[in-house]
Amino acid sequence: MKGIILAGGSGTRLHPITKSVTKQLLPVYDKPMIYYPLSVLMLAGIREIMIITCEDDLHSFEKLLDDGSELGLSIQYAIQKEPRGIAEAFIIAEDFIGESNVCLVLGDNLFYGTGLVNSLQRARSLGKGALVFGCFVSNPSEFGVVEIDDDENVLSIEEKPENPKSNYAVPGLYFYDNDVVEVAKCIEPSDRGELEITSVNNEYLKRGLLDIEVFSRGTAWMDMGNCKSLLNASVFVDAVQSRQGLYIACIEEIAYRMDYIDREQLKSLAGRMKNTEYGKYLQMIYETQ
Ligand code: G1P
Repeated sequence: MKGIILAGGSGTRLHPITKSVTKQLLPVYDKPMIYYPLSVLMLAGIREIMIITCEDDLHSFEKLLDDGSELGLSIQYAIQKEPRGIAEAFIIAEDFIGESNVCLVLGDNLFYGTGLVNSLQRARSLGKGALVFGCFVSNPSEFGVVEIDDDENVLSIEEKPENPKSNYAVPGLYFYDNDVVEVAKCIEPSDRGELEITSVNNEYLKRGLLDIEVFSRGTAWMDMGNCKSLLNASVFVDAVQSRQGLYIACIEEIAYRMDYIDREQLKSLAGRMKNTEYGKYLQMIYETQ
């Protein structure tokens, strides 16, 4: 399975912060935002990854992550010229996807919690169809909203409805079979002129091929698209990390634990950041694990 991180968009909900810096490189406590969705793909066992960004920001992402080889990954980059919607990612990445199934994660989404790794690894073995997640939230109108029956069958899925049919938001993490490229090419732009991911999901629903996994209460999902949610995410990461002494979305640690890199590679990565708490944490992992 291949992975896509969509890190485009103009981030207008974060202006003036994002007038000159792209949202997905902003700090979320102690690391750039994109580490969080990247860690999700890594934990799902996905090592071939495409990052889709705006042209202006491409170089900054390359500077941060390069070709991914230091993390035992293969990272490619592509450009989304205009913010034409999330589903355009599959059209941009068509050649990269090739014959594979694909997981898409939005560059401003953070996931954390018990059971997440199991959910991801199950999702990764998806055969035919699509799999989305459902997450109970207090403000469903701000997201894609999924209505489910008692057996967790999807009944409907709507993008930012005024009168949501449930409290289950659809987070920015989606698994699809290879048909998603064709589906993305067939959907019509919405009133806001975007190829909506919800339209893709609706097409799978129409075909009877949309599956859902509802996150348990122990799974945290945050999007970091406005000032308040950005701050909340930083506070959350600090609280968990300070209390446990274990880091969230530490991509070097994940690469090591998933056997993408060996101990010596971890040591070398830690050595380059030894002046920071982050680097000291990596050193601790190297010495103790
Ligand atoms: C997008 C999707 C929405 C989803 C959300 C998750 O909304 O359109 O369905 O629930 O991401 O973060 P956006 O935040 O891009 O408006």
